[in-house]
Order: sequence, then structure tokens, then C-alpha cells
Amino acid sequence: MDTFAFIIHPIDPKRDVSRKFPFLGRVLTERQIDFFSTFFPPVYISEIEGITSTSTGKQVKGWFIAAPYTPRRMMELPEGIVYRKIVQTGRMAERLGAQMLGLGAFTSVIGDAGVTIARSLDVPVTTGDAYTIAIAVQAVREAASVMDIPLCNATAAVVGASGTIGRVCAELLAEDVARLYLIGRRGEPLQELREQLSGPGRSEMIVSTKMDVLSNAQLILTVTSAVHDVIKPEYLLPGSVVCDVARPRDVSAMVAAARNDILVIDGGMVDVPGPVDFHFNFGFPEGKSYACMAETIALTLEGRFEDYTLGKHITRERVDEITTIAEKHGFRLSGFRSFEREVTPQQIETIRQNARLRAQR
Ligand SMILES: NC(=O)c1ccc[n+]([C@@H]2O[C@H](COP(=O)([O-])OP(=O)(O)OC[C@H]3O[C@@H](n4cnc5c(N)ncnc54)[C@H](OP(=O)(O)O)[C@@H]3O)[C@@H](O)[C@H]2O)c1
Repeated sequence: MDTFAFIIHPIDPKRDVSRKFPFLGRVLTERQIDFFSTFFPPVYISEIEGITSTSTGKQVKGWFIAAPYTPRRMMELPEGIVYRKIVQTGRMAERLGAQMLGLGAFTSVIGDAGVTIARSLDVPVTTGDAYTIAIAVQAVREAASVMDIPLCNATAAVVGASGTIGRVCAELLAEDVARLYLIGRRGEPLQELREQLSGPGRSEMIVSTKMDVLSNAQLILTVTSAVHDVIKPEYLLPGSVVCDVARPRDVSAMVAAARNDILVIDGGMVDVPGPVDFHFNFGFPEGKSYACMAETIALTLEGRFEDYTLGKHITRERVDEITTIAEKHGFRLSGFRSFEREVTPQQIETIRQNARLRAQR
């Protein structure tokens, strides 16, 4: 049976360490987990079984393995040390017999986005970013439809637009909407992106390094590598949609509490084909995975054992190809979830009513 491994790591230190080591998660503070993570070896998490292609019937098996660093630790430590720990974790995948390796969350953000890591390992590597892009944009389109926001007249924004995932999301949305804000910390790469993307049939594009312009956007796709939230409730337009692809999240938990007139959805969740059992609770309901995990699994189902999505510049062709492969094997955009809870049609209706009331006031 063909096999894969996927590297995860603690994002919310106390909650995520508790999922594997309940005692340590309870007694250690967040700072202590950050500190000790530097000395912790890679951790075997679980075996993944039951994945079955809907088109070929092929079954594959995989493993979750963890690199112990938190996002903050990965940003603080010298790049070489972080690479070394991820490569050590990749070696564990090789010993398990994995034929494909996926880099989860921040293990794909650090440094050159997987290039150095792939060079240091024998097993082929992917970041999963190409399918993450495809699913994030599909989610925004779908959310626009349920919130009755006609795409061709809409104003959208991509936060983190100069990033690996953000730039291709911006490229795709620029073909859908009337106006597109490209938002980030540094103006120069955003201006360059604007010049690259501008052209006939593309939306009007506006660059900003300030978050307050979000008050003009009906559709927001946010995908920064910030280690704290960047989107605050006061920025947002009643009735707007925010698709948060970033892990750790970009959207403040306060947004959900303070604004019942906005649809905030978790980006990047997909249905996995077959009776999958991850034997580990990573925060999703049964049968669902992150799009980046799905890319790793889809490549294994396809038998494409080669380095796949690597580096900071991802092409449209790669996004289209992985979408075709994933759909062929039965992966699909999953229903909407918000802060890890399902969003029902009734809740969407309530959000729309609240938005109308707020707009009248
Ligand atoms: N949901 C999924 O399935 C999935 C899969 C893969 C990755 N992810 C997540 O996606 C996120 C982005 O990944 P990436 O590979 O695209 O990262 P990246 O290439 O490092 O890009 C990050 C972007 O965020 C911007 N940024 C960073 N801090 C910011 C802040 N405080 N305010 C505004 N903009 C800020 C950066 O701008 P500057 O360059 O100007 O700093 C850059 O444009 C990460 O959180 C990662 O964990 C999710």
C-alpha cells in the first residue's frame, strides 16, 4: 500500500500539547512549552487509515508526526535550527516508510518554503500550498453566493497578499471581482504584485498597508504569517465574509463575539474520500482535513512521488493541476465552519438579518 506522512506542530501551545500529552499540557505554561519545545525530539502522533479514492478505489495509509516547535519559536530561532528539526522529523517519516511528505502550517512558511528541507531529505516533499489556494478561493466564492454578494460587482481584499498563498489567491480573485485590495505590511512587494496582476479583464487593484481599508470590502481572504491576530471587529463591513486561512488565525476571536452580522469562515477545510480515521484529534470533525494535508494525500493516491509545491512562487498551473487530481480522487470543499464550529444555513440567515438591521441603523 502506498504511504505518506504529514508534519504537524503545536499552534495553540497548551491546547495542542494537551491533545497528545494531557498532563504536560495541563501543568506547563505557554512560555514553558515554547522554551522546552527547543529541546524536544520529533514526536510520532498516529497512523492514518481508511483513505480510499472514489475514482480508482486505491487505498493509502499515512502517519501524523510532529515537529515540536510553536509558530513563535519558529520565528524566533535561527532558520538553520528550525530546518534541522523539521528535517529530523522528515527522517522519522522516512523510517516509517513514507513515500510522500507534507509540511503542515508553519513548517511550510519558514525560510524558503520547503526547498531546503526537500533538498535535505530523500522522501519527496510538498507544502500543500497549491491546494490550499484552490480551496480558499472556492470557499470565498461559495460564501459570496450564500451571502448574496454578486462577485462581479464585489469589492474584495486579500490580507497577506504578497505572501506565498496570498499572491495566487489575489491573482484568482482579480478575475472574479470588481475591486481588489492588496493588503500587507510592506508596500513595495504589494505594488509589484499590483503591476503584475493588472490588465484587461482584471479588477481595479488598490494597495494598502493599513487594515482600516477593510471597511470597504465585502469579501476578505486573510492569510498572513502573523503569530497574533490582525483583523479586529471594528474594521469590518456589515454582511461581509471573512475567510481565514492563516494558522495561527488572523481573525480575533473577538470578531465572532462582537459582530453577529459577519460571516467568518475557517479557510482550507476539505472532505477526505473513504472512511478515514486519523486516530488523532487535530480539531476538525471526522472525515475532514486541511487542504494542505489533502494535497499530500491526493499526490499519494495519484502515485506522484515527486517534490511538488515548494518555494515562495506558486504557479496557477500547479493550482489547477492539484485541483484536478484532488477532485478526481474525491476531495471536496467542505461545508462552512467558524472557529471550529459548523455554520448552519439558519445561522447564515441570522447573520444576513443582523447585517440588514445594522446597515439600517
Ligand atoms: N489552512 C491551511 O490549510 C494552510 C495551509 C498552509 C499554510 N497555512 C497558513 O497560511 C499562512 C500564510 O502562509 P504563507 O506560506 O503564505 O506565508 P508567507 O509566504 O510568509 O506570507 C505571509 C504574508 O503575510 C504577511 N504578514 C505577516 N505578518 C503580517 C502582519 N502582522 N500584518 C499583515 N501582514 C502580515 C507577509 O507580509 P510581509 O512579507 O510584508 O511581512 C506576507 O505577505 C500561515 O499562517 C500558514 O500557517 C494554512
